[in-house]
Amino acid sequence: MKYDFDRVIERRGADSYKWKDYGDDVLPLWVADMDFVSAEPIIQALHQRIDHRIFGYTRPTLELRAVIQERLKKVYQWEVSEEEIVFLPGVVTGLNVFYHAFSNPGDGVLVQPPVYFHFVRDPVTHGRVLDDPPLVQKEDTYEIDFAVFEKAIRDRTKVFIFCNPHNPVARVFTPKELEKVAEICLRHGVLICSDEIHCDLLYPGYQHVPIATLGPEVANQTITLMAPSKTYNLPGLHCAFAIIQNSKLRRTWQTFSSGLIPSVNIMGHVAALAAFRSGQDWLGQVLHYLEGNRNYLAQYIKEKLPTIRMTKMEATYLAWLDCRETGIPGNPFNFFLKEAKVALNDGVTFGRGGKGFVRLNFACPRKTLTEALDRMSYALEKL
Ligand SMILES: Cc1ncc(COP(=O)(O)O)c(C=O)c1O
Repeated sequence: MKYDFDRVIERRGADSYKWKDYGDDVLPLWVADMDFVSAEPIIQALHQRIDHRIFGYTRPTLELRAVIQERLKKVYQWEVSEEEIVFLPGVVTGLNVFYHAFSNPGDGVLVQPPVYFHFVRDPVTHGRVLDDPPLVQKEDTYEIDFAVFEKAIRDRTKVFIFCNPHNPVARVFTPKELEKVAEICLRHGVLICSDEIHCDLLYPGYQHVPIATLGPEVANQTITLMAPSKTYNLPGLHCAFAIIQNSKLRRTWQTFSSGLIPSVNIMGHVAALAAFRSGQDWLGQVLHYLEGNRNYLAQYIKEKLPTIRMTKMEATYLAWLDCRETGIPGNPFNFFLKEAKVALNDGVTFGRGGKGFVRLNFACPRKTLTEALDRMSYALEKL
C-alpha cells in the first residue's frame, strides 16, 4: 500500500514525550522518533493481539529468533545461532548492562564524541570514567583519528561503546575503518559494544557492515545491539536484542541481567515479528521520504540559513548542524527554543565537540519541517 507521510498527525495528547515536554507553541524536532504512522502489517498484528484480550507473560518465540537469524544472514551474510540472540527492552538498557557487566567503577569507558548522550552521560552517572577521543570534523563530515583513538586507551580502559551508524554525525563507518577500530581494541584487550540501532536507515550509496562480521576474533570480543525500534518507528514498544557469540561473555551478561532486566513485552514482540516479516514495503517508502527531507533540508540551509553548516548525512534522520558561524549569542539550542519556538537537541549533551551545535530530527511531514525552518530563519534574520 502507499503511505502518505505528508499527512500531519496530531501527537499532542497521545503520550508522546517529544510533543509534551515543551509548550504547545513549540515545534519539537528533537527526540529520535518519527511523526509517521507505522506499517500496516504491524498495526494489524497488534490489533489481533489486543482482540485476544489476554495479556499474560510472554517470551520471545523461536519464530522471532528465526526471522532475525534469516535477516542477519540475508543482509550481512552473518550466521547467528538462536541462543546467541539475547532479548532486551531497549538498546540503552543494553549499553548499560554492557559496561556494568564488564567494567568496574573507576574503569575507563571508551566513546567517540560528539555522540548520543547516553554514551557520555550514563557511564559517568554509574561511576565509570570516560576515555573520549573525539571524532574529527573534516569539511562537512567526521573521521576517526586512529592515533588519537589509540592514545586514549589506558590501563583503566576496559570497554568501548561504538556507535555505527553514528548518532549524531550520521557516518556509516567503512570496512577499512571498522578493521582498524577492531584491530586496536583487540590489541589492547578492550571489549566492544557496537550499537547498530540505526543500521537500516541508510541513504543510497552506503552499506552497513556489523563490526562483529569482520572475523571470528572480532565476534569473540564484540556484543552487537540492534532493534526494530528506529527502523520501523516502534521505540515505545520496547523490543531490542544483543548478539553475543562468545559464550563466556553471554553467560556473564545473562548472570548480570538475571532478575534485573526484563525481556521483551508482549506488544513489542508481536510488533517486531510483523516488522521483520512484512515491514519492508513501508521501510522502502519511509527511506525514500527521509531522503527527500534530507535533500530539502540541505537545500534550505544552503539558500536561507547559509551561516549554518549541515554535516553530510550517510544515515539516520538526525541532522548535525554547526551553528558556530551564525552569530547567535550563547547556546544555539536555547536561542532556537526561545526565539524560534523550535525544540532541537542541544549539542552540548553529546559530549566533547558538541558546543555550538544542535541536532535536528527531520522524520516529520515536509510541512512541519518547513514551518520549523521558516521559524529558525526568521529568528536568525532578526539577530
Ligand atoms: C545510538 C542510539 N542508541 C540507542 C537509542 C535508543 O534505544 P532504545 O530506545 O532502544 O533504548 C538511540 C535513540 O535515539 C540511539 O540513537
